[in-house]
Amino acid sequence: MLKCAFRRRALPARVVQQRWATTTQQPFPPDINEWSHPPTNATISDEEIYRLAAKPRRPLTLADLVKHGKPPLRDAALLSSANFTLSLLPSRLAHRIQALRNLPFIVVSNPNVSKIYNNYLHSLSTLEPFYRKPIDSIEDEMNFTEAMADLVRTHSNTIPTLAQGFLQCRKYVEPAEVTRFLDQHLRARIGTRLLAEQHLALHMASTGDAIKQKPDPTHVGVIDLAARPADIVRRCEGFVAEVCEYKYGVRPSLVINGDKAAEFAHIPMHLEYIITELLKNAFRATIESGNEKEAVEVTIASAPDVSTTKLESLKKLSVNNENSYDFSQEGLDEYCSDPDDPMGSLHSAAPCITLRIRDRGGGISAETLPNIWSYSFTTFNNEEAAAIANGGYGSDDSDGLSVLSNTGADQSSIAGLGYGLPLSRAYAEYFGGGIAVQSMYGWGTDVYLTLQGIASTQQIREAPNGFEELEMEKKQGKE
Ligand SMILES: Nc1ncnc2c1ncn2[C@@H]1O[C@H](COP(=O)(O)OP(=O)(O)O)[C@@H](O)[C@H]1O
Ligand SMILES: [Mg+2]
Repeated sequence: MLKCAFRRRALPARVVQQRWATTTQQPFPPDINEWSHPPTNATISDEEIYRLAAKPRRPLTLADLVKHGKPPLRDAALLSSANFTLSLLPSRLAHRIQALRNLPFIVVSNPNVSKIYNNYLHSLSTLEPFYRKPIDSIEDEMNFTEAMADLVRTHSNTIPTLAQGFLQCRKYVEPAEVTRFLDQHLRARIGTRLLAEQHLALHMASTGDAIKQKPDPTHVGVIDLAARPADIVRRCEGFVAEVCEYKYGVRPSLVINGDKAAEFAHIPMHLEYIITELLKNAFRATIESGNEKEAVEVTIASAPDVSTTKLESLKKLSVNNENSYDFSQEGLDEYCSDPDDPMGSLHSAAPCITLRIRDRGGGISAETLPNIWSYSFTTFNNEEAAAIANGGYGSDDSDGLSVLSNTGADQSSIAGLGYGLPLSRAYAEYFGGGIAVQSMYGWGTDVYLTLQGIASTQQIREAPNGFEELEMEKKQGKE
């Protein structure tokens, strides 16, 4: 009953407007400042938010990320990268603001959720002066880059904050609704951050001390043209093993086999996020089942001739799955590549790499299995973890909130937020990959992480401007 009373979305705007008018003297809709708690100093008007949110959003493609060329960029290319970023970001931010407003009022008025809402208002207000006219001087570009850095910083803590907010509201919203909102929101956030981070990375690699150094031949901003999963697994293993040692006093081992030399063009930040989360799960299960003498095994396989489009592979991976992303919902347009864009969709031989992460941690029980893709679902118990570390016993009164307050819920906690699997899947799917979990209860778990290289070498060679340089360098290196 309470849930329905606070649900604004179900009522047509006209009806809500009448009700509002008859029950209070306030104008409708409430001023943006009334929605946020504490009141925000954002300057963006409601009309502007509506206007921007109504603009069609187009998908982010690989071509978008590489079209300005390989750094160091000349001034003109840097300006065009800034203007391009500005052409996509405001409507995406406005759309997120609207999605937050569409949540039941009791949720959006929660201090944590409202903090995130304020962050979006703040970011859009900061961008407003920039998108009003094209950026045509390096000075403006510098100021804009500062605004991008501010945006990335402001939104860096979104996940634990939203997690805390939704946990506090769990009595008022169905878990399925939370998962649906978070899935859409966090997937959209992947694109928004990618846009901002790509401009920042291009700027950093094209200005200051960076131009005095020899350009990095394999990086185009945040994209590594020769990312090697085996190296990334080793890096993440080091980090996760440290977290385990700190938390449990044990450090499981890991072996890598298969195609260790496989490499492809991808975004290392995304790969690191996913692999860290999957290794945390595997290590935690291994330790908690008392099986740490059994190494976690990572097998790498590469299949060079996968021919599919991103949308096709996404649908194949999850559309019929009970807990999966709903492809009919709004937002897909900004999430998926455009199939008509020769660079955006993965029509031609984009290399596909699969990692199988195999642990002997006892597997996942039948009652746990259906929940593993829900945001906030966890079987982690902080007290039990402490008990393992101390060789003693812990109480079982832990829940997500206590984990959040005990660990700070950054990536350095071993588990407990329940975001690892669903968010990793969102990252993997962003460029047409996916994650599948196969549990053998009583024995262990296999997790298959499929990753589509975001371009084939052929595509990279043919990428608009900038890549000829890469080829030249390669040739010169051989001579
Ligand atoms: N390799 C694994 N072995 C056993 N259980 C697992 C494994 N991976 C995931 N799980 C189960 O799925 C749940 C959700 O995982 P995740 O989304 O990463 O959240 P968290 O790690 O914070 O609990 C875990 O709490 C655990 O019960
Ligand atoms: Mg986890």
